[in-house]
Formats: sequence, C-alpha cells, structure tokens
Amino acid sequence: MNAFKKILYPMVVIWTATLISASTPALGQHLTEQEINHKVDSLLSIMTLEEKVGQLTLFTSDMTSTGPTIRDNYLELVREGKVGALFNAFTVDYTRKLQKTAVEETRLGIPLLFGFDVIHGFRTIFPIPLGETASWDPELVREASRVAGREAAASGLHWTFAPMVDVTNDPRWGRTSEGSGEDPYLGSVMAAARTRGFQGDDLSDHQTVMATVKHFAAYGAPEGGRDYNTVNMSERRLREIYLPPFKAALDAGASTIMTAFNELNGVPATGNKFLMNKILHEEWDFSGFTVTDYTSIPEMITHGYAKDGRDAALKSIEANVDMDMQSGLYLEQLPELVRNEEIPEGYINRSVRRILEMKYRLGLFEDPYRYSDAGREKREILSEENRAKAREVARESIVLLKNENDLLPLPKEVEKLAVIGPLADSQEHLLGNWSGAGRAEDNVTVLQGIKNKVSGDTDVTYVKGADINSSSREGFDAAVKAARDAEVAVMVVGEAREMSGEASVRAHLDLPGVQQELLKAVKETGTTIVMVLMNGRPLAIEWEAQNIPAILETWFAGTEGGNAIADILFGDDNPSGKLPATFPRTMGMVPYHYNHKMTGRPFDPNNSYTSRYLDVENSALYPFGYGLSYTTFEYDNLSVSRDSIGVAGSVNVTVDVMNIGERTGEEVVQLYIRDLVGSVTRPVKELKGFEKIQLDPGETQTVSFNLGPEKLAFYNIDMEKVVEPGEFKVFVGGNSQDVLEGGFTVVD
Ligand code: NOJ
Repeated sequence: MNAFKKILYPMVVIWTATLISASTPALGQHLTEQEINHKVDSLLSIMTLEEKVGQLTLFTSDMTSTGPTIRDNYLELVREGKVGALFNAFTVDYTRKLQKTAVEETRLGIPLLFGFDVIHGFRTIFPIPLGETASWDPELVREASRVAGREAAASGLHWTFAPMVDVTNDPRWGRTSEGSGEDPYLGSVMAAARTRGFQGDDLSDHQTVMATVKHFAAYGAPEGGRDYNTVNMSERRLREIYLPPFKAALDAGASTIMTAFNELNGVPATGNKFLMNKILHEEWDFSGFTVTDYTSIPEMITHGYAKDGRDAALKSIEANVDMDMQSGLYLEQLPELVRNEEIPEGYINRSVRRILEMKYRLGLFEDPYRYSDAGREKREILSEENRAKAREVARESIVLLKNENDLLPLPKEVEKLAVIGPLADSQEHLLGNWSGAGRAEDNVTVLQGIKNKVSGDTDVTYVKGADINSSSREGFDAAVKAARDAEVAVMVVGEAREMSGEASVRAHLDLPGVQQELLKAVKETGTTIVMVLMNGRPLAIEWEAQNIPAILETWFAGTEGGNAIADILFGDDNPSGKLPATFPRTMGMVPYHYNHKMTGRPFDPNNSYTSRYLDVENSALYPFGYGLSYTTFEYDNLSVSRDSIGVAGSVNVTVDVMNIGERTGEEVVQLYIRDLVGSVTRPVKELKGFEKIQLDPGETQTVSFNLGPEKLAFYNIDMEKVVEPGEFKVFVGGNSQDVLEGGFTVVD
C-alpha cells in the first residue's frame, strides 16, 4: 500500500460507512432509487478519473477462460482499483478472496461484480437453450433459469451473460444451439421468461443474478453462417425479426445488454450509434448498463472501423458502451481522452453511474459478501431438487420426429435391447456447449437411463459402433452383432458438443463421420431401430427420416439427460416438444424458415418458373413447430369472434382441441396470422400465440387467443408500427404447416 492509500483508506472507510449507515436499510430490504442516486452521486464526487474508468473495466480471471486472451496482471489492477468487475471467477472461496482484495485493499473499497456465462444451468445442466425452447413452456424455462441463477448466486456470482436471444435461421451457425431458434415471437417469450428466471423480481434478492441480453444485435445473421461474420440487413428486417427478443428481455427487466462482435451494415455493433444511442437509449430508454463482448472494442480496428486503440475506445464510449470486456482499452485510453477534452467527463460519469447503480441494487455496498455463503453453496449446487427440475425440463424439450406404427414407447419388459452409438454412453456430450460449471461425471448417460428403466430381466448390450466424427468402421461388426441379437436397437447418434457454440460452424448439416453408415449397417440386420439424436442445431437428416422408423430429437439434454430420454423411450412420459427451428432437407436449402415471404412466383409443383429447387423436394423435412405425441390430437371448430374490426380493435380466436388417442398428452396449440396485403409485403405466416395444454384421452379443450393491435401491427413503408386495414388470415394447429384456417378484416 503506498503512502497516499495509507492516509486516505481509513478516511474513506469511515466516510463510506457513514454514507451507508445514514440511510441504508437492513439486508434484504430495498434502497429506493432516490437513495441509490444520492449514494452514487456522493461516491462519484470522490472518485478519481482512473477509479471511475476502473469501474468500466471487466477482466477474465484465470480460473477458466472463454476467449483468446488472459491478462497476467489483472489481480494487480484489481488492487489498484482499476477493475470494476471480473468474469470466469466463481465458487464462494475464490470470489470471496477476490472481493476481499477489492473491498479491503483499494482506496474506495468498491465491491467487484462477478460474471459468468451461465447459459443453461450452472452446475446442474439443463438442455441447451434451443432444447429448452422446444418445450414451448415459458414457465418451465423460467424455472430452469431460476435454478441456474440460484446455483450461480450460491457460488459467488452476481451476473450471468444470458439470455442469448439472437434469432437465426441459419443452422450452420454454431450458436443456433444457444438461442431460441428462428421465430421472433417465440424468441421474445423465452427471452422474457429466462430474464425473469435469472433476475426474479428483485435484484437485491441474493438468490438471483443479473441477466445480460445478448448479442446486440443481429449476430445470428452472419454471411454464410460463419461466426463473427459480416451482417447486412434492412432496418425493417432488423426491427421485425432480430430486435423483438431484446426488447422483450429488457421489458422483463434485464439489467445489462452485451454488444455483438459483428458489424451491422458497415458499423461494428460495439461502436454502432444507431443501435446503442438511437434504439437502445432514445427509443427504449434503457436504464441498465451495456457491456462489450470479449475484446470487441479493439476488434473494431480489425474490422477497419477504428484506426487505433484510442479511436476504438472513443467510438465505443460515444456509443454509450459502458463496460469494456477484456481489452483494457478503456483503462488505457479514456482518462487521456478526457484530459485532452476529446470526450466530456460526463460520458464517463454516466457509464460509472449505471454500473454503480447495479452494485447498489444488488446490495453489494451493504454487504459485499452476501453471495459468499459456503453453506448455501453446498446445499444449493446440484441438489436433488435441481436435478429433478433438470429432468423435467429435459423431458419437455424432447421432440418426437417420427414414430412409425407406434413403435414408441418401448415396453420395459423388452428381453434384448442393443444400445448403440457414439453418444449412447457419453457423459461429456450431454453437457452441450456453454456448460458453465457443469461436470461430465454428474451426468446420466442414455445407456444408464435405459438400464435404470428397463425390467430386471432385460438384457442390455452396449456397443459404441463408431466415433462421432472419424472414418473408422472398426466398431461396425460388433454393433451389427449386438443388433442382430436384439429385438430393438436404440441408436444414439449426432454431433459432438463442441460442434455447436461460439466459433463452431458447420458447412454440412448431416450426421458427422460414419454414423449414417453405421445406421445403414444396423438397418440391414432387420432389427428395428429407434434413433436418438443429440445435436445443437437443425440437421439435414432426410435419409434417416425416410429409413428409420422412430426418431427422437433430444438436443444436448443436460445432467439428467439419460433419465429423461429413458422416461420418453419407455413411456413414463409422453413427448410434447415442438421444433423451434425448421429442419431443412439438405444444407443447400439454408436459410429456410417458415415465416418467409410469398414472392411473385411462389413454389408451384406444376410450374417450373416458380421459386424452387430442382434437385430436392421443396418443403421442410420437419417444419417449425412440429413434434409428435404418443397420442393424437384433433383440431376443430376454429372460430374468429368478429368478421371485421377497426385498426384499434381485436378478435378472439378459439379452437377445440381433442385428444383422440389413448394416452394423456400435452399439445402446443399454435396461432399464426397472415396479413394478405400491406404497404410492405408480409410473411406467409407469423406466430402470434401458443398455449401448451394437457388433455386426457377423450378430453376436448377450447383454446382461446386474443389478437389485438400489438400483434397485428408491423413496420409500414414509413417504418411506423401500424395496423393496416385489409384482410387477415388466421391459422391454428399443432405445427406451422398443418393448420385450420379462418380470417377477418380490419377496416379503417
Ligand atoms: C464471447 C461470447 O460471444 C459471449 O457470448 C460470452 O458471454 C463472452 N465471450 C464471455 O465469455
């Protein structure tokens, strides 16, 4: 400690203690916004410029890393009060030590924020977000995020870099797995649910963490599906498809937002004033703070948008970018930029204010160690209750793609079962990508799940058969033999977990390696095959869809994946997941999404001069919203309450859904609209509502949806959000393709 600190430190401690005790309520109570403001003002007034910029600085710890660089001297910088937050640091023990350094060794003792990518679970791992979304059950998804947040908070974390809400219709893009698929409405509902799950109602509740909605914006639309690549799109498309989930997360209270790596229409997101100043601040009146993605400030130099580090820092702070993740450029450049009067100190103050406000809201000034309870950490992490929730969510996320002759569910009394495939006994891959503090050894494999489920007399033989991605066929013979001796072969195939996620782009969408050949070899034995897929994106599996009688899409299902998959395979639960993204027939159809435009020459099988592919069937392999059940649902009596409404009016749409099968089941009833003629053209279908219902055999339920201005409006030719008079079609069904149709008219 230098002499300056020695003199000042006790004074500041006394000062802050006085400041806090004068008006601070006891732990767990709220500070009013006015009180927070007052405290932030006072603190700002005694901070040096360097200390202020320190609050805008976020470094990764060396505990784990999620990007290319680690700074050797980050601890030294923490000690100097030059770091406001750390990420990739967790566990009570570790974060407590770091917090102690910040609180006790810096001049002002401002507590650190600890962040981490808690994306689909912290230690108890839930299905990848795309899988969670396939449950079409926002309440359940909220609960999954709540568990993830509780575990994270119990492990010393205040902040997650989730939800990731990037819409995408390009399954080559590896981060498809991390989002909610291709639809802005479904994506918005899930974005809000996850935000509520992580944050709860009150940031001062120390069992919650701050959410970060990311990556702002349009990161899911890179050219060629290649991560970090250029994005070019119209403002209309941006506003219609890519922005709504961000707005939904912010409306649900998301405290922070992360800028994207990509450039958007020529300007990198991290320096993009249109996105940050105009949309986020002017239009949406965002009151939290913004954080960059990993080193995305200096990457603006590589983009060719900033000439050097100084220029990059300037462009970011001018774009209201508050916190610099990992580059250290704010620390290096902002003080001098202020001193040279190239930027007003007010810019720094406003960013510091936003960050300090959050630290107050979290209660960190009252007790910097309120997330540091080792007893709580032990009780919360991987508790039985959390595992049970993960199993429930995993079950609900599974999509039954095919079930010829009701092959599934299998009887538990099956005598001889072969379990084959590179993913059948893998604990590792169930984690999926971005698996937080998840550990492979916690996971229940499919093989284990099956063994837990079948009768004591069932003979289960396991053969790996092939690797996920090699050309070796050495295991084929053993697989064929096992299948030949069995009544049924459950074949667990798909992608490796590292084939999705950041920088994990595929140019092919089929099963990697020789897995399809393995399926073919086993098929030749004549033994019935049930294919269990694990993957992080829609796959092009046309051959499998034509040749394998039963297919279950299980994504990467998490810690309890094997048990959940066995629950479905053997009928203890009835599958109810629906696809959140279209499965194309082949890679060449990508991007292929249900909510496309009509074109002037829509596909017509009888007319060559229409919009089509010559060499593949012109339809999705499995459409958006698709998923089967072990029972059958029938839709009838679609009714729209009024034939015509005014532009401010609304209609009720009702439909009867019947369970005409023999098992209780859940169905996701989906509502789509089409605005037939607009001042700009509208998609052929747009999801505008859904409800997951449960029906007993023979039971009928009437499901009702309201369609009002919020759902009927779109950005017109002048980029105003309006409802235009004209005819609307309404579609209701169990997927985006098989629907009942109705309609109504909007009049002036
Ligand atoms: C880069 C990723 O793009 C982002 O999603 C993540 O939150 C950060 N790294 C931090 O790990």
